[in-house]
Amino acid sequence: MEQQKRYGHFDDQHREYVITDPQTPWPWINYLGNEDFFSLISNTAGGYSFYKDAKFRRITRYRYNNVPMDNGGRYFYIKDGDTVWNPGWKPCKTPLDFYECRHGMSYTRITGKKNGVEASVLFFVPLKKWAEVQKLTLKNESNEVKNLKLFSFEEWCLWNAATDMENFQRNFSTGEVEIEGSTIYHKTEYRERRNHYAFYHVNAPIQGFDTDRETFVGLYNEFADPQAVMEGKPRNSHAHGWSPIASHYIEVTLQPGESKDFVFLLGYIENEQDEKFEAPQVINKDKAHALIAELDTTEKVDKAFAELCEYWDALLNIYKVRTGNDKLDRMVNIWNQYQCMVTFNFSRSASFFESGVGRGMGFRDSNQDLVGFVHQIPPRARQRIIDIASTQFPDGGCYHQYQPLTKRGNNDIGGGFNDDPCWLIFGTVAYIKETGDFSILDEMVPFDNQPGSEVTLFEHLKISMDHVIKNLGPHMLPLIGRADWNDCLNLNCFSWDPNESFQTTENVSEGTKAESLMIAGLFVVTGKDYVALCKKLANGQWSMVNGQCDFSAEAERMQAAVDAMIDAVKKHGWDGEWYLRAYDFYGRKIGSNECEEGKIFIESQGWCTMAEIGAEDGMVAKSLDSCKKYLECEHGMVLNNPAFTKYIYEYGEISSYPEGYKENAGIFCHNNPWVIIGECLAGRGNDAWSHYAKILPSYVEEKYQTLHKVEPYVNCQMVAGKDAFKPGEGKNSWLTGTAAWMWYTVSEFILGIKPDYDGIRIDPCLPETATDYTVQRKFREADYEITIHPNGQQKGVKTITLDGQPISGTVIPYSPGKHIVEVTM
Ligand code: GLC
Ligand code: GLC
Repeated sequence: MEQQKRYGHFDDQHREYVITDPQTPWPWINYLGNEDFFSLISNTAGGYSFYKDAKFRRITRYRYNNVPMDNGGRYFYIKDGDTVWNPGWKPCKTPLDFYECRHGMSYTRITGKKNGVEASVLFFVPLKKWAEVQKLTLKNESNEVKNLKLFSFEEWCLWNAATDMENFQRNFSTGEVEIEGSTIYHKTEYRERRNHYAFYHVNAPIQGFDTDRETFVGLYNEFADPQAVMEGKPRNSHAHGWSPIASHYIEVTLQPGESKDFVFLLGYIENEQDEKFEAPQVINKDKAHALIAELDTTEKVDKAFAELCEYWDALLNIYKVRTGNDKLDRMVNIWNQYQCMVTFNFSRSASFFESGVGRGMGFRDSNQDLVGFVHQIPPRARQRIIDIASTQFPDGGCYHQYQPLTKRGNNDIGGGFNDDPCWLIFGTVAYIKETGDFSILDEMVPFDNQPGSEVTLFEHLKISMDHVIKNLGPHMLPLIGRADWNDCLNLNCFSWDPNESFQTTENVSEGTKAESLMIAGLFVVTGKDYVALCKKLANGQWSMVNGQCDFSAEAERMQAAVDAMIDAVKKHGWDGEWYLRAYDFYGRKIGSNECEEGKIFIESQGWCTMAEIGAEDGMVAKSLDSCKKYLECEHGMVLNNPAFTKYIYEYGEISSYPEGYKENAGIFCHNNPWVIIGECLAGRGNDAWSHYAKILPSYVEEKYQTLHKVEPYVNCQMVAGKDAFKPGEGKNSWLTGTAAWMWYTVSEFILGIKPDYDGIRIDPCLPETATDYTVQRKFREADYEITIHPNGQQKGVKTITLDGQPISGTVIPYSPGKHIVEVTM
């Protein structure tokens, strides 16, 4: 049999994925930056940088869906005699003697070799710095002296990534730069309302430069053969309008065996209004000089890199498992947690599928993402919760998205997604359980960011629950609004106009009977959490200054609402073998055996089994079995079955997709973990594991090399389902709720280490083949080493000892310090 082509492999020791062939089936990217300055970088150095907000503060330009794909990035051209090449192969595509790209934790190292010269570039954003470092090391591995001509290249974006792509009548006249020594400054619009500029610097004297794109590239040339580079002659161009770029030209002589480092720095600076200029029209460069001075030698850069690595060591030391199964360990210990941090930073804004102009931070998305990173950076999770809650309306509804730069609700999309409020409880409870910090409930949080409207965060949770209760339909199930989690099930949209957005259009909602079983399940799950929280508060866990709430009464009130919801689901939400998905505008069933297509949907199976609704009547087991029977396929569980083969006016976007893609029966990885958790709660460890392994990147790494196409080290949002033309193709990698849900599932429900108010609950659910494993878990001020002996059991903890002493129950009571825990199942 022919050996399957491979493009790379994992290097667990260095926490890297090593790409050995530049021609991956799709650009395989990585993210740089952890706080304010961010970059996307592909395995051939394509991509771009921005400050905080990929739409409003784009620093370098990128062209999505380009031909060829992934053109534009930070490029180094090396001219060695007549040969011009790039360390990352692109854009010249000169065949290399060696190529390697190592994507690590917030850094990427790309190495190329050609004709006896090695060029290795380390890309990273130092902690707390507004800059991308590109440390280029050139080494002469030949026996002769090398005289190289080195050109760097970055293309500036005119800040607003959206207008940059469309408003050319203006854009082609606004571009402005300054050149000072080895630094090229980009200051478009600085003369008027911007108080920020960017720069591209190198820590060596330059022998020339270019800042005007057409002069450098040549109007009829491409990135692959820029005229200045091909002729080995920079033009020293000074851009006025058109498309400003930054390119340094350096002549490098290397003796045999000699190597030289060059530190390139792409930086971003903000100045105070009255300190913008040092002379008329001349930008104040003090801060740029200071930033450059911090990173202008190999030693300084190496130190900044070491700090970044230590930062990641610390983050990844909080939860570590040793199962002896490399494929599981590397996802749990490295890549799944890393992907969660990336979704924390980017929500759904900037990837190679999300252009960074369309979406800010989602209300539901960000709350879900929180369970993926709350253990690593609790203070930032706390801030995130408050930012999110601040975009809520007084009636409990909320903006669906907000812009990270302004933290304001996004008017373009508005609100009306009736699942949104519940997610605030989901996120907040996860935060308190991790940290024990009940004081967050005391925070005064405004509505719609309006000063003076502040109430406590607890009050926000309360009105979130009430929003569901106040919006029930004829079956006493939650009204769906514009949509629930499935943004494409648009039951009040009714659109025949292709120019209308399915998400923002509600052509009719008056008199709607459209109800959601997904929200029903979500309400029960988060409602139980809310009740438990109120009971905790009633027991005096919280010395609340601002609130005057009778928490016992509140717990009772909400318990009654939860019970009523459970009844409604049992009565009106059960189809015989599975839970219904919804009722449409007219009150007709969706996701029923009576339907012609779309007979069963995954979301309500996931949420109603997580809520354990009707478990005692066998509903949960039947629902889970139906998922296996109708939704499962080789690559995971599809969203609905059978797929819709025609557009259904009453359903909206879901039926707009061809069969097997996206919300129309794609494997929407995000929701698979819901069913897996349902399986875990039901104690069906073998089934939980088999569903989990199907969408675990390391388990299907082989498939990624050809069929899946996207990065084999992270989950993608969607894999084409069994009804698709090409089942198994992956799309929308990186920014997906799948990351957090996979993490939540494996860390808390499969491996069974679950933070709780008073300690850590131990409740694994494993395949019967599981062997002993150990989890190292830092929790608040404690450090637990927990060893589980499954003994062939799928579920059920028999005994626990804490530091040698048996404890009763399954919660290890929290106390600071180091502890050894032994668990027998
Ligand atoms: C996308 C959205 C998410 C939505 C999901 C299902 O992933 O980011 O908010 O729930 O699609 O439509
Ligand atoms: C839809 C996508 C869905 C996404 C929604 C909102 O086109 O299919 O996944 O959540 O748009 O952007």
